[in-house]
Amino acid sequence: MQREFRVHTLDDLLASGVAGRTVLVRSDLNVPLDGSTITDDGRIRASLPTLQALIAGGAKVVVTAHLGRPKGAPEEKYSLAPAAARLGELLGVTVPLAEDFVGPSAAATVAALADGAVAMLENVRFDARETSKDGAERGALADDLVGVVGNDAAFVSDGFGVVHRKQASVYEIAQRLPHYAGYLVTAETAVLKKLTVDPERPYAVILGGSKVSDKLGVITSLLPRVDSLLIGGGMAFTFLAAQGHGVGASLLQEDQIETCKKLLEDNGDKIVLPTDVVIADAFSADAAVQIVDVDGILDGWLGLDIGPESAAAFSAIAEKAATVFWNGPMGVFELAPFAAGTKSVAEAIGASPSFSVVGGGDSAAAVRTLGIDETGFTHISTGGGASLEYLEGKELPGLAVLEA
Ligand code: 3PG
Ligand code: MG
Repeated sequence: MQREFRVHTLDDLLASGVAGRTVLVRSDLNVPLDGSTITDDGRIRASLPTLQALIAGGAKVVVTAHLGRPKGAPEEKYSLAPAAARLGELLGVTVPLAEDFVGPSAAATVAALADGAVAMLENVRFDARETSKDGAERGALADDLVGVVGNDAAFVSDGFGVVHRKQASVYEIAQRLPHYAGYLVTAETAVLKKLTVDPERPYAVILGGSKVSDKLGVITSLLPRVDSLLIGGGMAFTFLAAQGHGVGASLLQEDQIETCKKLLEDNGDKIVLPTDVVIADAFSADAAVQIVDVDGILDGWLGLDIGPESAAAFSAIAEKAATVFWNGPMGVFELAPFAAGTKSVAEAIGASPSFSVVGGGDSAAAVRTLGIDETGFTHISTGGGASLEYLEGKELPGLAVLEA
């Protein structure tokens, strides 16, 4: 269970007056891109309330963020330029983007900021020190960042999607500047906390995504606390293999089969697996497609979505639940023939009056790109890994550091 989260918040900072003060904001603007086109701007929208409040208070706002996983050096395709442009559109102002992170362009961009204006620094992960395992290296980068924004600056942590990362712009920077939780971090933690403290029953968790190994921690920690754990997506096939089904060419983590067997033995009453699947002869939108029972997966074919019978069963459980947490698509929703499972489960969650939380980059993007009414959900989190680790009860470095 997560302990009480006691920090100074953005409201405290605003109350102390920010006019003319430089405020560094860490946001999570890691949006999905198709070339330079943003396919889901949810994370940028979610960053607005904090930025708008600081603008209204007359702060000089410096936004720092990452995009993708560049290898510690500048790479055009990971530039934050599309995010800066979109942020500017949404705020109705121009958001200049420094060409570097802590170099001369960053210094000049910050120096040119007027009160109530916003600028962005280029992708923090263009500097290898950001994600270094060595705390001293990360600290050196944080020192450089303080050099850019000045010793009198304040730091607002608002990138909920990265608070599970011990990285310079998330963690070490908060050790160097007065730090505050932004509105997004405050809102996300308040909602997730409700899932860990006495959730209303029945409590159903629906997990998808490709790898069992990524979700093992959350599965084992949630099983004792939930009434049902529904498993779809690529990871379902390792569970189906553990039940003895042939899975053809579907995603399979052979080294996890024994673990899945044990989970099924110990929790067979709670774990719900698909009973039918959509299989295809290739990973492609124009592949040949069949719907088969889980014991009828053809050799060489791959399962790319849960079938309609499973979708109906999952939806029925979601509709009856009082609390639902959903992370991970049920199939390859980006390709139309394999989107139905994700769509019907998402619609069922949205249609029910439950306390419902959508966790994660991919599931949140699925809701929006499949055109599902977002208002049906209590909360759509901007954090995938972060919300899972929070629910697992792990200490998130980016939150813990704000308490110090
Ligand atoms: C995410 O997309 O999950 C967050 O932005 C964190 O990114 P990361 O997984 O590359 O650290
Ligand atoms: Mg991630």
